[in-house]
Amino acid sequence: MDRDALKAAAAIAAVGEVDSGMVVGLGTGSTAGHAVREIAKLLGAGRLTDIVGVPTSQATADLADEVGVPLIIPGEATIDLAIDGADEIGPELALIKGGGGALLREKVIAASARRFAVISDDSKMVAALGSSFDLPLEVVQFGLTITIDALAKFGEPHLRLDDSEAPYVTDNGNYIIDLAVLPITDPAATNAALHNVPGVLATGLFVGIADVAYIAGAGGVRRIEAGSPA
Ligand code: A5P
Repeated sequence: MDRDALKAAAAIAAVGEVDSGMVVGLGTGSTAGHAVREIAKLLGAGRLTDIVGVPTSQATADLADEVGVPLIIPGEATIDLAIDGADEIGPELALIKGGGGALLREKVIAASARRFAVISDDSKMVAALGSSFDLPLEVVQFGLTITIDALAKFGEPHLRLDDSEAPYVTDNGNYIIDLAVLPITDPAATNAALHNVPGVLATGLFVGIADVAYIAGAGGVRRIEAGSPA
């Protein structure tokens, strides 16, 4: 099975938690896109009704509009279940997210949801966060050099660029720094330390937020509840 088919399998398994009448946080990225399309499919077939979504990016809002998932604005109703992908999944379901640049909105939505399901193929599972993926940080444009200098003590900061080699600008009008780090031994402590840098608005470290993971591999989809043995 190719990587995209595995992403779809994980997404479809997580959408199994969606019941009619729910408010669903809609993540960003290729894996989360499969979840949005699956919800639309179930709505179209009448197997789900009265679902509204809260998108974590403009791209996801556009996809939901295209496939027919009704949206509400964040804060209009409590989110029952948020479903989103990840770039790395570490011990205790700590995550690195933000490869798609939507980390701040993703964290606002995931942290506020009654339940957060992370979905992925099994290539994203790591023994320590930061082993295979640079840590994305959303930073203010103001004083960028000051922020980059302050981040240098944590690793190698790289300003993310877009396809035209200009700084990548998030949906919130901010920049992204991709921080090359050594494997992170204490994600909560690293997250707190990075938040002490004044220009950092959000880190891609999601610690203690995920309630369940659906991880698809050649043998099927594995469901891991937070707090269960690895
Ligand atoms: C978006 O900002 C990210 O957090 C994505 O959830 C993450 O990059 C996973 O993306 P894919 O599902 O496309 O691999």
